[in-house]
Amino acid sequence: MSKVTVVGAGKYGSTTAQRLAEADIADEVVITDIVEGLPQGLALDMNQSRPVVGYRTLVTGTNDYADTAGSDVVVITAGLPRKPGMTRMDLLEVNAGIVTNVVNQLMEYSPEAILIVVTNPLDQMTTLAAEVSGLPRHKVLGQAGMLDSARFAHFISGATGADILDIEAVTLGSHGATMVPVPSLCKVGGKPLAEALDADTIDELVDRTRSGGAEIVGLLKTGSAYYAPSAAAAAMVEAILTDSGATMPVCAWTEGQYGIEGVYLGVLAKLGASGVAEILETPLTETEVAALHEAAVAVKEKVEDLRQLGQDGE
Ligand code: LAC
Repeated sequence: MSKVTVVGAGKYGSTTAQRLAEADIADEVVITDIVEGLPQGLALDMNQSRPVVGYRTLVTGTNDYADTAGSDVVVITAGLPRKPGMTRMDLLEVNAGIVTNVVNQLMEYSPEAILIVVTNPLDQMTTLAAEVSGLPRHKVLGQAGMLDSARFAHFISGATGADILDIEAVTLGSHGATMVPVPSLCKVGGKPLAEALDADTIDELVDRTRSGGAEIVGLLKTGSAYYAPSAAAAAMVEAILTDSGATMPVCAWTEGQYGIEGVYLGVLAKLGASGVAEILETPLTETEVAALHEAAVAVKEKVEDLRQLGQDGE
């Protein structure tokens, strides 16, 4: 019996639950939210799509954490999204309270679960979830790199005209201003990106990728992106549930890779039944390694701010 819980029945949570259910890789997908009726209604609707789409996973909607008991994997989407003009960091205080509360309740019923955090600011909320849960660090990870890499791939496809499925793109670092798109690891039809595009164009795509979330927030006016984010989160759950060992860019706890340690940061990792099975140290250029170090410093600084908030609140 495999069971996945998605916390938060907003657009990000509900599309993640839908993608997971349709992938038919879990026996049960639970969707929970504080709004009464919302997760129940979404679950009933999704369950009724099963004979049409052709999957068996049962979706449960609930306001009660007892129904999440025994989850193998939990995706935490709870929290506020950005409004136009806000940075992800503007959400630090309000979402820290929400994530702390959610993780405490989850741990009561699923002490063995693997947690995938998507709430922003991503790197800090992943750190917080790890600390509040007390779980081993390999069991707590954040979703950002899959999404940012997918955005980068989309922009590369647009600029080169190449088939989107022939593009490999990688972004590491933070899910914010110190995001590190990694052109040296990107390929178009198996060839280095630098052979397909000139340096100025690559720089433009890197900048657009870095502000890819804000671009969508600006267009939507309310709420933030959810189609690509939910696809990314669901892919991570699938790698864990199926113990696939797939390599993905994820927010994981660093332990000396690239000379960085003691911080949650976007890195390439193999995912499996244990969560993060291994962090890979793929060769990077000097500039890219320096950018990763800069990202690590920036994330650590904001984690300090978070600790300060916690102390002020006591
Ligand atoms: C984004 C949010 C989900 O990047 O972080 O769209």
